[in-house]
Amino acid sequence: MSIAGKVALVTGASRGIGAAIAAAFGTAGARVVGTATTDEGAERIAQQFDRQGIEGAGMALDVRDGAAVNQLLEAVEQRFGAPLILVNNAGITRDNLLLRMKEDEWRDVIETNLGALYRLSKGCARAMTKARWGRIINISSVVARMGNAGQVNYAATKAGVEGFGRALARELGSRGITVNTIAPGFIDTDMTRALPEAGRAAMLERIPLGRFGAPEEIAAMAVFLAGDGGAYITGETIQINGGMYMH
Ligand SMILES: NC(=O)c1ccc[n+]([C@@H]2O[C@H](COP(=O)([O-])OP(=O)(O)OC[C@H]3O[C@@H](n4cnc5c(N)ncnc54)[C@H](OP(=O)(O)O)[C@@H]3O)[C@@H](O)[C@H]2O)c1
Repeated sequence: MSIAGKVALVTGASRGIGAAIAAAFGTAGARVVGTATTDEGAERIAQQFDRQGIEGAGMALDVRDGAAVNQLLEAVEQRFGAPLILVNNAGITRDNLLLRMKEDEWRDVIETNLGALYRLSKGCARAMTKARWGRIINISSVVARMGNAGQVNYAATKAGVEGFGRALARELGSRGITVNTIAPGFIDTDMTRALPEAGRAAMLERIPLGRFGAPEEIAAMAVFLAGDGGAYITGETIQINGGMYMH
């Protein structure tokens, strides 16, 4: 079963990696719903889809809000049919050393990066089970395995994303649903542009391929995992980091 005609839901599709993933699925013929946190962001996604000739919609969603997730899934189902491809991409950083980290910096990151997977995957799994076909793709980070000072909250969520994926892959495998994780290294987006230049330069020195990754290089893997080529891959975490971390 190819991707063409399927409904793909991509969270955090207004910018960066999520925008590239949404565009790649649209180009592969999927009908794509991309989310942003605001109505303006959702409108910009819709305009971008129009320019790219992609069938789909932009919708507003805060992935921390369970009721909002359920409302969104109902709206998507009514308009396009239930998503059989789910990409849990939305994510944030709230960096601080543990000794200075505030409770809300901890909670915000946990709810956005990890709590969202519980809500969205649960909301989508029933229709995937019924269809006996589904693809859940979660976005982790190289820091899940590598660690990074100042990111205990973020690294904890990303390691959690990988464990979540392995457990869910075992639950859903018999229904033809695969669950995989992509762990990007340093990708050139707003998230990494916000880092101080000295930090970016130090990071670059640790990357054997000598450059930061492009969002499209993550998107290509997401499309591969959802397509026929990825049909026998499940519970896996794929590292895409230019050699920055090897294991
Ligand atoms: N960039 C990297 O080097 C890198 C490396 C490893 C992993 N990652 C992971 O890749 C994913 C995308 O990162 P990125 O660099 O593309 O980030 P980004 O450019 O900062 O974009 C973040 C996206 O998430 C959305 N978002 C933020 N909070 C949300 C919430 N509460 N509910 C719903 N959506 C929310 C944002 O929506 P708005 O536009 O409305 O704010 C935006 O679309 C994240 O999970 C990140 O952890 C990134």
